[in-house]
Amino acid sequence: MNLCKIYSAGNCARNFKIIRNLSTGGQKRESSENSKAKTGILMVNMGGPSKLEQVQEFLTRIITDRDMMQLPMQSKLGPWIAKMRAPKVMKKYSEIGGGSPILKWSNLQGELMCQELDKISPESGPHKHYVGFRYADPLTEVALQQIEADGIEHMIIFSQYPHYSCATAGSSFTVISDYYKKRGLPKNMKLSIIDRWGTHPLLAQTVAERIKDELKHFDDKIKKDVMILFSAHSIPLRVLNRGDSYPSEIAATVHMVMNELNHSNPYQIVWQSKVGPLPWLGPATHNSLRGYVSQGKKNFIIVPIAFVNEHIETLHELDIQYCTDLARELKIEKIRRTPTPNDHPLFIKALADVVKTHLHSKKAISPKFVTRCPQCINENCQPCKTWFAQNCRM
Ligand code: FES
Repeated sequence: MNLCKIYSAGNCARNFKIIRNLSTGGQKRESSENSKAKTGILMVNMGGPSKLEQVQEFLTRIITDRDMMQLPMQSKLGPWIAKMRAPKVMKKYSEIGGGSPILKWSNLQGELMCQELDKISPESGPHKHYVGFRYADPLTEVALQQIEADGIEHMIIFSQYPHYSCATAGSSFTVISDYYKKRGLPKNMKLSIIDRWGTHPLLAQTVAERIKDELKHFDDKIKKDVMILFSAHSIPLRVLNRGDSYPSEIAATVHMVMNELNHSNPYQIVWQSKVGPLPWLGPATHNSLRGYVSQGKKNFIIVPIAFVNEHIETLHELDIQYCTDLARELKIEKIRRTPTPNDHPLFIKALADVVKTHLHSKKAISPKFVTRCPQCINENCQPCKTWFAQNCRM
């Protein structure tokens, strides 16, 4: 059995050097160096704890976020649940090296994206990236303070979830609108948003290249039979039934990737990381492996389709729990996992092109963003969308 590789670092020596330099203090270091940046690109994402001691606080922020989940007595119950779950989650982080690499990847992606943007869009440069995490340091609010201190002329909020969900990207936008409702938007700063970009051709090409690289590891005789499982983070069915567009946006990306591959292999979209007793969107990734093995499939490639950089759901859930432990139990012949886009040169070009295309579009906000889900019951959504509709301009 050839178990999958653990992808915890990039493959480019130059990029390793940048990773080492962009630790948690990266943004501060850059601000003094690039204080004359004209366009600031705030890369928002959920984030992850860089150290084990940050795990409980990270969990508390997630479980008390009403955009992410709604619980009775959430402000009291959330911290208690986080405390109970923290030891188990810390053990998982310790098994992938003691923390999430998401900050290092995000800073590297931002640095390389801005280098590319300075080349392809000099009229909007110099560009500077900021990382704003929803649940871990550097928090979004801290990044917003830094953007104001740097005197950025145009801030672009660039969601690092290519596929929009009200529970993930939506939550980051809520935090930003709440922040500025209290303090006011800096005078003379233009604001615009990139809320989804799952159908960008270079994103599809990046994923297709990752798959082609993994297919090389299979014998020519069986290559065409390798089952490709596109694995995305699942969502509760009640979120889906409100009209959340996330699953359909994932499917759009997968369709483009398979077109790039000329539909060379069988494939399936599967859903991972369910928590709690309520029903979530399936089929689950691990159940799909079981099902296909019982149908006689022996060779697999798992593709994390919704994540743009490595974190615990890829490094632990996919690599350790499924590609190692479950693969051994099911006697899978060969299973490999594609790296997330990380610092793939095509992906860096994709990030830069998404921003450049946005700038040239002169559309500060999309009609889809300002429209609520048909069955929305979240009291945060309308005020957030209204605020952005009133304040975005290019
Ligand atoms: Fe989607 Fe409110 S839950 S807009």
